[in-house]
Amino acid sequence: MEKIILTGDRPTGKLHLGHYVGSLKRRVELQNSGEYDKIFVMIADAQALTDNADNPEKVRQNIIEVALDYLSVGIDPEKTTIFIQSQVPELAELAFYYMNLVTVSRVQRNPTVKTEIKMRNFEQSIPVGFFCYPVSQASDITAFKATTVPVGEDQAPMIELTREIVNRFNNIYGETLVEPEILLPSNAACLRLPGTDGKAKMSKSLGNCIYLSDTPKEVKKKVNSMYTDPEHLTIDSPGHLEGNCPFIYLDAFAFDEQVARFAPEFGTLQNLKDCYCRGGVGDGTVKKLLINVLEEVLAPIRERRAYWEARIPEVYDILQKGSEKARATASATLDEVRAAMKINYFSDHKLIAEQAKKYAAGKK
Ligand code: TRP
Repeated sequence: MEKIILTGDRPTGKLHLGHYVGSLKRRVELQNSGEYDKIFVMIADAQALTDNADNPEKVRQNIIEVALDYLSVGIDPEKTTIFIQSQVPELAELAFYYMNLVTVSRVQRNPTVKTEIKMRNFEQSIPVGFFCYPVSQASDITAFKATTVPVGEDQAPMIELTREIVNRFNNIYGETLVEPEILLPSNAACLRLPGTDGKAKMSKSLGNCIYLSDTPKEVKKKVNSMYTDPEHLTIDSPGHLEGNCPFIYLDAFAFDEQVARFAPEFGTLQNLKDCYCRGGVGDGTVKKLLINVLEEVLAPIRERRAYWEARIPEVYDILQKGSEKARATASATLDEVRAAMKINYFSDHKLIAEQAKKYAAGKK
């Protein structure tokens, strides 16, 4: 069986370091591993509209932001098909059929949807489209017969639902769809990178993000204002690592080789942690190391971004070609789906012949 990746992001804002460690970095590694036959990365504008119906301009503006972020982290349009969800209408059609295979209570139990409803104060008035987005996500994945979906932990309930839909579909209509596997980040610190304020998750609405497009000055300022250990009042007092942002970020980003280079007095990250916990290491020292480490990640990203920012029409061309290619793939799956669901009236010549025979027989 072919190995196929599908993943994507909602274009509701620029991508940040949480996206980078949680998914983007992995995508580039998978892309360059040569282990996959096809890779699709989708800009989920239709999904973004499910809770931004009154703000289409925001979604439109962020399509190019996200595309620039993709290209700047090293997603290569020669190897990866980058496309826009709304330009593949087959996805909406497939979602409409899948809605018959899922109960309302099943979606209501989805923990990610539950959290989002609370965050958006939707309790009293959930848009139907928003409520159904997990179902539409199942069509995004299955329309490409994806075997592998590299995403963050918060997307696990969507992949679970997709697997259920695939099983139900194949049971009712015959083997047609492929059951996907989730691929989570391997490093625990990458699973859920906290915001610079130490809050649960980096998120635009909380204003605690470091963006891939931030300047060195912005990065420095944000790291220097990071939440650390409120009990670490003087350099000499013992520090705690739990919930300490600079250390969580170092776990996610730093190699010992970098620690040895930028903070030779400590040599390894573990030794720096031990010294910090004993007392005698200032937060400023840890933050300075982190700034150096982040700059090594961000500098090449910024450089590639500048290259593509000077070629915006070319970026739109990449998106258009990608969307055409994605549509051809989804359309082939939809042909199979329609045949399995017996709604392929005009291409089913046997059906037409049978009906003709039946009615001719009635005449006799
Ligand atoms: N829900 C994802 C997000 O919030 C975006 C997305 C839409 C997606 N469809 C998908 C991710 C299919 C993986 C597979 O970013």
